[in-house]
Amino acid sequence: MCGIIGYVGSKDSVNIIIRGLSALEYRGYDSAGLAVLDNNEFKILKKAGKVAELEKMLESTSLSGSIGMGHTRWATHGGVTDINAHPHCGGDNVVLIHNGIIENWMEIKEELSGDYAFISETDTETAACLIDKTYKDCIEKGENNPTLEAIKAAVQKIRGAFAFVVMFRDYPDRFYCIRKSSPLVVGCRHESAKEAAGKFEAFCASDAMALLHYTADVVYMNEGEIAELSVNGIKFWDFSGVEHERETIHIDWNYGMVEKGNYPHFMLKEINEQGTVLRQTIDKRVIDNQIDLSSDLKWDLEQVKSWRKLHIVACGTSYYASLVAERLAEQFTDLEIRVDIASEYRYRNIRCGADTLAVFVSQSGETADTLAAERLAKSKGAHCLAVTNVKGSSLAREVNSILELKAGPEIGVAATKTFMGQLAAFSLLMMWIGKLRGTLCKSDETRICAELTRLPYKVESILSRQDELRLLAEKYAETTSRYGIVYERSKGFLFIGRGNEFAIALEGALKLKEIAYVHAEAYAAGEMKHGPIALLDSGTPVITLAPADSLLEKTMSNIEEARARKSPIISVTSEGNNAVKSISEDCFFISRTEEELYPMLTVVPLQLFAYFFAFIKGCDIDKPRNLAKSVTVE
Ligand code: AGP
Repeated sequence: MCGIIGYVGSKDSVNIIIRGLSALEYRGYDSAGLAVLDNNEFKILKKAGKVAELEKMLESTSLSGSIGMGHTRWATHGGVTDINAHPHCGGDNVVLIHNGIIENWMEIKEELSGDYAFISETDTETAACLIDKTYKDCIEKGENNPTLEAIKAAVQKIRGAFAFVVMFRDYPDRFYCIRKSSPLVVGCRHESAKEAAGKFEAFCASDAMALLHYTADVVYMNEGEIAELSVNGIKFWDFSGVEHERETIHIDWNYGMVEKGNYPHFMLKEINEQGTVLRQTIDKRVIDNQIDLSSDLKWDLEQVKSWRKLHIVACGTSYYASLVAERLAEQFTDLEIRVDIASEYRYRNIRCGADTLAVFVSQSGETADTLAAERLAKSKGAHCLAVTNVKGSSLAREVNSILELKAGPEIGVAATKTFMGQLAAFSLLMMWIGKLRGTLCKSDETRICAELTRLPYKVESILSRQDELRLLAEKYAETTSRYGIVYERSKGFLFIGRGNEFAIALEGALKLKEIAYVHAEAYAAGEMKHGPIALLDSGTPVITLAPADSLLEKTMSNIEEARARKSPIISVTSEGNNAVKSISEDCFFISRTEEELYPMLTVVPLQLFAYFFAFIKGCDIDKPRNLAKSVTVE
């Protein structure tokens, strides 16, 4: 979950590292630090807090060096302190940064405690010391390549997940990247002939986005791989020391896509891009009102017909998109469906095999639980499909086939446009499976495809009315002050919906919780009277998802029940639905659409409501407390 950046070349590494850390900050922002190697001396600067704090420290130092590394931390072992911030030193020879968790760190620490005085509470420091120890052993033995041998020996002893970047004091022209379970990408660029003919600049990062300013040609490191990055190029070995070649791949994202532009926050920028995301998702996949995913999914028809089961597995927002996918699959296919949270799926006695299409949904493609769930399904013989936004991600590289979201890079920690991309991709996928299996009606295909091409305009029409949602958020975020104590107008929110709209209720509540720190609970509207209705009173607004679908009358009865308990009702409904308006304190109208596609419209006002609510409260919207964008530890 931490962010890692490294550079070696002829330029000063400090600016490159700071720029990289700023791009990676969404991965963790408990502390930031950097190390450079200058005249065979390590110079380290680190600080609890955001990258801006580190930048302030830099103003009063004169740090420079043509090789260096930087880290943003999401704390696991050890509190958020300057000392626990990375980089960490191992003896005199090694400096290291780490993303992941070392499971046997106590054992390693105990083993080394006679030789090393540990100063932090982190698991990472034990790895730095272990590599220092194995390095000294290799020097003593007169090994030819002591740095590589030291790393090989150390990784045999470390259990857990790690992406390490390691610098050795005696080798100012190179650093090493080591990957087991945590993502790491390396890239290089030939310096211009004018500056240094024939030489390389080499970079590494935990996310290719951080390198886009310098290069779009990268290598995603494999499991159990070591890379040596130097001004002469990049070399790769496996953990047993066998050297191999790797091909670079070109990323079709550019640097402009990872900038905020004129928006105050990435989240707002990304919400506003959702019309475009829909267009990009259906482009070349919906032609003349017909669905065609044959260029994405090179499936064998016989295999598709042999499937009996469909598993859909994900975490967080991706899981809520999967709940919508479940209903689409029920409607367009004849498969037996189960949808699961990845952290549960991976520990169950799952029945899956060659008769199963197992779909793993992850915008980042790096979520540890989703990856572990995929490995389980693969080991049981399922055909694994990734629905992801990052085609070079670990998930994308491990599965049998990929359906790409085409949402472009998402930086805000709260997923918004990738959720939209997932909903659209799922509507295509489920129709496509149905079409191949002969269970999709022609009329459904035409009806849904035609509406999908109109949907971007309907999303954009909601986006053009953001002021209404700002005013709504202002009303409910209102506070009063009595005896010096600040009371919020709303104690918490209940989100309710039926069918697909229950999934949107869950997503709306998650957005409010994660960025505005407001307690919000989502319930299937019909389930409310089995408990949560006890929460309702005039201080607990109920946000109802009530578009004109086949369950509208039932949802309206649930609205009445909440109203009878004096809860203020905020409804999202389809235009012209004045019956819902008349029983709501506040009502936001969306355009009418096909029942299956309503989630792509109803979610937008909820994203904006959460955004404005958080804005009014002064929350750090793109970097909410305690969170990180990619959850790469279990
Ligand atoms: C979304 O707003 C959250 N930050 C989070 O729930 C996220 O959706 C989840 O961690 C899954 O991430 P993934 O899609 O990258 O696997």
